Amino acid sequence: MPQPLIWTPQLTQDGSYTFFSLQFEESFHSVQGARAEAFAKFADATHLAEQAARASVQASVKLLDICYGLGYNTAAALETLWSLNPDCRVELYGLELDASVPRAASVSPLIESWSAEVQPVLQALATDQIYQSDRLQAQLLIGDARQTIQDLANRGFQADAIFFDPFSPRRCPQLWTVDFLRWVARCLTPTGKLATYSRAAAVRAALIEAGFAIGTIPLSRTLETPSHEWSQGTVASFAAESLPPLSLLEQEHLRTRAAIPYRDPTLADSAEVIRQRQQQEQQQSTLESTSSWRRRWGIC
Ligand SMILES: C[S@@+](CC[C@H](N)C(=O)[O-])C[C@H]1O[C@@H](n2cnc3c(N)ncnc32)[C@H](O)[C@@H]1O
Repeated sequence: MPQPLIWTPQLTQDGSYTFFSLQFEESFHSVQGARAEAFAKFADATHLAEQAARASVQASVKLLDICYGLGYNTAAALETLWSLNPDCRVELYGLELDASVPRAASVSPLIESWSAEVQPVLQALATDQIYQSDRLQAQLLIGDARQTIQDLANRGFQADAIFFDPFSPRRCPQLWTVDFLRWVARCLTPTGKLATYSRAAAVRAALIEAGFAIGTIPLSRTLETPSHEWSQGTVASFAAESLPPLSLLEQEHLRTRAAIPYRDPTLADSAEVIRQRQQQEQQQSTLESTSSWRRRWGIC
């Protein structure tokens, strides 16, 4: 099937490819390395290696990949689990709006970033939205994640690890709201972990209001980061003691106006309406301004 012209592979610095979305005006991955990002910010941050060691013949590891896209977070998770425990059984759901994205990523040269055992999984999910084998039951739910998450939660699905990877909060606020994250919280086991690349205060505050404890994802040795960065994302769970604590800088960030979260009470508002609602709340707030917090910490 011919791929839509809009999905032109873009090379990233670790040799793997990503796409650029004209609709969201944003790249799908960090230019420093799409493959490296999937490991550092998602598979490693959710401690999948421990899950692989714990998995037994009876119990599978359950994964939820929100904003599946090219499937890289799923691919990195499967490579991590199976390299440590080739018998590890996995149950996985991916949520994605646009079926043309995984389809365009299931061909050369993008697919070659992944091992021979993972490539057929990505290809089957892209074409059939389902993959079943002795050790993997996987399904891709196509549609707005604000709806598909409700189906999944109502089915009682709970993941040991959730990869939370929408476009940035400014570009796609509808997936970073307190209201959406409450549904996401219903899909995490009591001991599970959620990881996201965002360390925005509005995202962290929304996670807390949705019932999560949060920690930081410390800067990585494998991904180069600009010197003014203080974290490469956020990890959330229901048990604060299992998470890397926020620094004082990050704690104070949560007491500024930047920490006013996005809201979408009916889970149906447009990005514009959700952004305006947050701006109104910010204008009425008596919290410290974010520019004054930046000055205090010398962040340009
Ligand atoms: C940053 S990209 C995800 C990259 C992906 N995790 C990967 O490793 O390739 C964001 C994805 O969210 C999808 N998306 C945007 N709005 C969505 C929505 N309302 N529901 C579900 N997916 C959505 C986009 O189509 C895109 O594939």
